[in-house]
Amino acid sequence: MENVISDIGIISEKDKVTPEVRKSTTKNTGSKKRLYVESYGCQMNFSDSEIVTSILEKDGYDTTSESTDADLILINTCSIRDKAEQTVRKRLSFFNSLKRKKPNMTVGVLGCMAERLKSKLLEEEKIVDLVVGPDAYRDLPNLVSQVESGQKAVNTFLSREETYADISPVRLNSNGVTAFISIMRGCDNMCSFCVVPFTRGRERSRDPHSIVDEAKDLFERGFKEVTLLGQNVDSYKWSPNSDIKGKTQNEKSEDVGIVNFANLLEMVAQVDADLRVRFSTSHPKDITDEVLYTIKQYENICNYIHLPAQSGNSRILGMMNRTYTREWYIQRIDAIRSILGEECGISSDMIAGFCTETEEEHRETVSLMEYVQYDFSYMFMYSERPGTLAEKKYKDDIPEEVKKRRLTEIIDKQREISHNSNKRDIDKIHKVLIEGFSKKSQEDLQGRNSANKVVVFPRGKHQKGDYVNVLVHDCTGGTLIGKVVE
Ligand code: SAH
Ligand code: SF4
Ligand code: F3S
Repeated sequence: MENVISDIGIISEKDKVTPEVRKSTTKNTGSKKRLYVESYGCQMNFSDSEIVTSILEKDGYDTTSESTDADLILINTCSIRDKAEQTVRKRLSFFNSLKRKKPNMTVGVLGCMAERLKSKLLEEEKIVDLVVGPDAYRDLPNLVSQVESGQKAVNTFLSREETYADISPVRLNSNGVTAFISIMRGCDNMCSFCVVPFTRGRERSRDPHSIVDEAKDLFERGFKEVTLLGQNVDSYKWSPNSDIKGKTQNEKSEDVGIVNFANLLEMVAQVDADLRVRFSTSHPKDITDEVLYTIKQYENICNYIHLPAQSGNSRILGMMNRTYTREWYIQRIDAIRSILGEECGISSDMIAGFCTETEEEHRETVSLMEYVQYDFSYMFMYSERPGTLAEKKYKDDIPEEVKKRRLTEIIDKQREISHNSNKRDIDKIHKVLIEGFSKKSQEDLQGRNSANKVVVFPRGKHQKGDYVNVLVHDCTGGTLIGKVVE
């Protein structure tokens, strides 16, 4: 069931998550100090680790892929569900066992858990030397030297402006073909279940010119695909006339030169027709027809939209504070289908067993999945997070077994829908950007079509980074299988 994924890994069965971990790769320039970074959570976090590495390389660090070799271990953490935090805690106790053998080693926590727990990690739990929140990475060299001089160091200041626009990320774990570009930070929505607004702070958009420059630079270095990243890309908004980078600017009268998300997509698409553009995540309340028409207009903007529904029931959506109803969501899906056609890939996130959810309401989630025919979904059991609106207002009253059973039902439904969706792709030609060898064999290559589906085919004389047309003749639950046609 390769196509059933969680944002922190592949769900192998039920809600058992194999966390996706990213580790730094070894780069030795003869520097004395060695850095090891391990990252959990979403793409934003992986992208932040590349910024952190860039900052610390400038400060004289080499990177290593072995935590045992490191002088500085940084773990970039996720708080989205309780399980994500448990995984990090296990790793921290392992790093502490390393530290006992090598007392000069520094262990630091970055990211969302750092922001959520702040100095508690130092004072109460005494498990780390360094705690740095997502907006304070520029301060890392300074904080690390504070630790080296024998103190503990914390900076969890959340900024209204920081976008790291001028920092050129060091691409870690890169296939040299696809890369992520962070276009905004934070989130101004208040979905009642979600910890992100507390860990990432207020929403702010990055200067579009720095985004275009980053895309150009990647293309010149041989990359062929960029994914524009934000928690809610449709509310991207940047104005040249404002000192404050962020949403508040659109209230201003001098709205000349404002760049919205559709404009930004267009600017990036114009970098080169051979550079594919993807984006994530879209919010159902904010995705506009203007964005859909921009996707339609540019062949290199991929026909794929990740549009998390979370639930198919309007009462639950209201309690989740998603600010749309089932009907509104369906109307957005219909707009996608009418503007971009059936070929456009659509995926979702779903939460099973949110507070007070009835069986009937759960079945509405299943029926929404049937209506939309998602190509794939990320599915989770509701996990109550401290400090969120849901934790304050509602009782987490759905028993664990019920949550599990409902999750299983939506996973099974998605599996069936994904398989049918893949079957519909058989006997069609797909334009695929090759990303590398297939997972199973060096005789096969793999890449993705515009709709974000993985396509595997015999390698022939083709290479990573090439575009090829593949005639699909078979499929599994998560992969299309085909042959290149000239
Ligand atoms: N900004 C994105 C989502 C970021 S978090 C959006 O708005 O869609 C990724 C996903 O994790 C969410 O879409 C949601 O499905 C899931 N999630 C967030 N908080 C959760 C919680 N407390 N319990 C279970 N799943 C959660
Ligand atoms: Fe969380 Fe909602 Fe913001 Fe997504 S839009 S990050 S789910 S608060
Ligand atoms: Fe996790 Fe933070 Fe991303 S909570 S999902 S790492 S924004």
